[in-house]
Amino acid sequence: MTMDAIYRRAMRKDVSRLHDVRRRSILELALPTMPVAEAQAWAAQLTLSGMERKLRELEVWVAELDGVVIGWGAIRGDMLEGLYAAPEFAGKGVGAGLLAMLEGLMRERQFPSVRLEASSNARGFYLRRGYRATGPQTAKGAWPMVKEHLA
Ligand SMILES: CC(C)(COP(=O)(O)OP(=O)(O)OC[C@H]1O[C@@H](n2cnc3c(N)ncnc32)[C@H](O)[C@@H]1OP(=O)(O)O)[C@@H](O)C(=O)NCCC(=O)NCCS
Repeated sequence: MTMDAIYRRAMRKDVSRLHDVRRRSILELALPTMPVAEAQAWAAQLTLSGMERKLRELEVWVAELDGVVIGWGAIRGDMLEGLYAAPEFAGKGVGAGLLAMLEGLMRERQFPSVRLEASSNARGFYLRRGYRATGPQTAKGAWPMVKEHLA
């Protein structure tokens, strides 16, 4: 993937960094495509203890460069449950690399497809990577998408 980043499972010690990467990625990367209040509300939705809960309930993977977490993604079964790149590393392939790695895990596990709910700002990112919308925007403004034929 990009640079010399490595992928590893997230650990409890990563909680505050993961929370911070998520918050800043939303405020800095999603903001231009949505109203400020909407991005702020999305960013504020997850507390530190909510992040701890994600670590317990989801399979969270981080991309790490020289000991620093530069992005993370989470999966549960065949669902992508989150994907975030630290804004200072945006546009360098961190998100694409994490996504490809997580898709690979699902492929190994014999899931035929990946499902996700994309935020409006990330919709194009997923469309360009083989995903298609499966239905209208949800009440929360997300776009249900699927990528089939993983194999
Ligand atoms: C969506 C998100 C994860 C993408 O992460 P990212 O690391 O910036 O994405 P990438 O660098 O992999 O790809 C972004 C663009 O940079 C380009 N790119 C990829 N590698 C690159 C490289 N080495 N150098 C320069 N540009 C590159 C890609 O082509 C891509 O453009 P495209 O989508 O038009 O094809 C990130 O914008 C983010 O965290 N957003 C806020 C949170 C969010 O919306 N998450 C998704 C919730 S569903």
